[in-house]
Amino acid sequence: RRSGAGQARADIGIIGGSGLYEMEGLTQVREARIKTPFGDPSGPVILGQLEGRRVAFLARHGQGHRFSPSTINYRANIYALKAIGVSQVLSVSAVGSMRETIQPGHVVLPDQFLDWTKRRASTFFDADVVAHVGLAEPVCGRLGQIVEQATRSVGAVAHRGGSYLCIEGPQFSTKAESHLYRSWHVSVIGMTNMPEAKLAREAELCYATIALVTDYDCWHETEEAVQVEAILTVLRQNVLLAKRLLREVVGQLEEKAVCGCQQALKGAIITAPEAIPA
Ligand code: ADE
Repeated sequence: RRSGAGQARADIGIIGGSGLYEMEGLTQVREARIKTPFGDPSGPVILGQLEGRRVAFLARHGQGHRFSPSTINYRANIYALKAIGVSQVLSVSAVGSMRETIQPGHVVLPDQFLDWTKRRASTFFDADVVAHVGLAEPVCGRLGQIVEQATRSVGAVAHRGGSYLCIEGPQFSTKAESHLYRSWHVSVIGMTNMPEAKLAREAELCYATIALVTDYDCWHETEEAVQVEAILTVLRQNVLLAKRLLREVVGQLEEKAVCGCQQALKGAIITAPEAIPA
């Protein structure tokens, strides 16, 4: 399908979450407005060089944070990155902690997701072609390994592995919900990584989440119900950390990802009208 990507090219995609609206240190910066068959991405894709790599940055919530987790066009965002040649995506996301040992300011690199969202377009394959990709391991282990090392090398606490529970939002959880989710043994809670991770897999992109913990959610006895001001303070510090961390990660990545993520559709069950004998 036509994407309108023009001459814009990049190898590594960075999706910035709350607070991360621009990527410092990019050189040879240019902006690309990419049209996709699924509508417009959250905003322009910012292309540039970082640590010798061609990087594409996209602010998930759009410029000025105009899209809520429910109104982000996840399909257009992933499609746009794929259309300009990106093969690996780093997803930076603010999350709440569901475990005592995971503290605000820590970095979690989840390897699993639970999709608790309710009203989001979450597949590219719901018209003409129907495809069922495998999602047993939704995160690229190769990326995860690099991000873990980089997190430690910038002096931050990294928790590798664990589940990210994605709720619809935009409200935070009730205490009853928070306690229920804890009984599921999830590590962190957020509002955006589903369907993003699903779509990245369908697009055969490597995907890894850098989850930056802003709060303890409301299950935590000593915390007041998630306080917006407190979250914002931690968020600002996390964003500074994320920028340092991303530079470190990008510098260590191969330009082109070569791993199983690029063959996700080979193992998928695919049906299309023309594939069915008359
Ligand atoms: N994002 C940051 N903190 C969160 C929380 N407690 N619940 C859901 N999403 C979040």
